[in-house]
Formats: sequence, C-alpha cells, structure tokens
Amino acid sequence: MPIFTIRQTYIIMKTSVQVCCFIAAFFCSTPLLVNATPDPASVELREKYNLDKGKKVYEKVCANCHGTGVLEAPEFCNISAWKPRIAKGMAVLVQHTIQGFRQMPPKGGDTEFNEAEDANAVAYMVDQCLIH
Ligand code: HEC
Repeated sequence: MPIFTIRQTYIIMKTSVQVCCFIAAFFCSTPLLVNATPDPASVELREKYNLDKGKKVYEKVCANCHGTGVLEAPEFCNISAWKPRIAKGMAVLVQHTIQGFRQMPPKGGDTEFNEAEDANAVAYMVDQCLIH
C-alpha cells in the first residue's frame, strides 16, 4: 500500500511548484519595485541642482510660457513634449535656456535670475516631468 496515491502525489507536486513560483516571483520583483522609486535620473538632479529654488524661478518666469504652451512652448509635465528634449541632456537644455532657443528668448526674456538659478528652473521642470 503506497503512502500517497498517484492523485495525492500529483496534488502535492502541483502545490510545491505553485509555492516555489510564488516565492521566486516575490524575490524577482522586489528589486524592480525598489528601483522604481525614486528614479535615478531624478536623484541625480536633486544632487546637482536646487529644485526648490528652481520652482520659484519657474513660477515667476518660465510658467508664463511653459504653463500654457504659448508660442508652442513645451507644456509643464507634458511628457510626450518633454521626452525628446530631455534626451538632449541637461547641459544642452541649460545652454538653450540661457542663450535662447528658436521661439524662446534668452533666459525666457527675464534677466533677473543668474545662470545657476535658470539651470535650477530647467532641473525643476525636467524633474517634475520624470515624476509624473
Ligand atoms: C516667452 C516664452 C518663454 C519663456 C518665458 C520661457 N520659455 Fe522655455 N521655451 C519657450 C518655447 C517657445 C520653447 C520651444 C522652442 C522650440 O523648440 O521651438 C521653449 C523651450 C524650452 C526648453 C527646451 C529647449 C530645447 O533644447 O528643446 C527648455 C529647457 C526651456 N524652454 C526652459 C525654460 C526655462 C527654464 C524658463 C524660465 C527661466 C523658460 N524656458 C522660459 C518659450 C519660453
């Protein structure tokens, strides 16, 4: 008389496989979940730039165009509009902001803030786009 019938053996094996899959799935997905937040690019921006100061510059100067999309400015947090621009890299975006780029006047047309402050504003806009 066998200890387990064929049917019981089948059920035990099936359950073991299910438990193993569950454990494997848990351990495989944990690093993904940890990596998902925060975005490494976002962390780098926070290290290099002062996003709180950038927000103030954005609200005072940049939002005039980027808040509404006037002159076809890429709108704040419009990911499809920003994605190809973010791909140019921060150095190019900061340079374009300071020197002007096509329809955008140098420094967004406001010389009140220095170059580092304008760079903070670029970083703030990019960071917000990465988060959303
Ligand atoms: C007078 C309106 C206006 C203001 C103010 C303005 N921008 Fe822009 N900005 C634009 C327009 C229009 C474009 C799109 C230019 C194009 O690609 O034709 C643009 C594009 C950009 C780009 C993308 C550049 C690239 O290489 O694709 C960045 C970055 C940017 N603006 C940052 C800023 C920052 C930071 C401020 C505030 C200091 C600011 N802008 C203020 C109109 C403005």
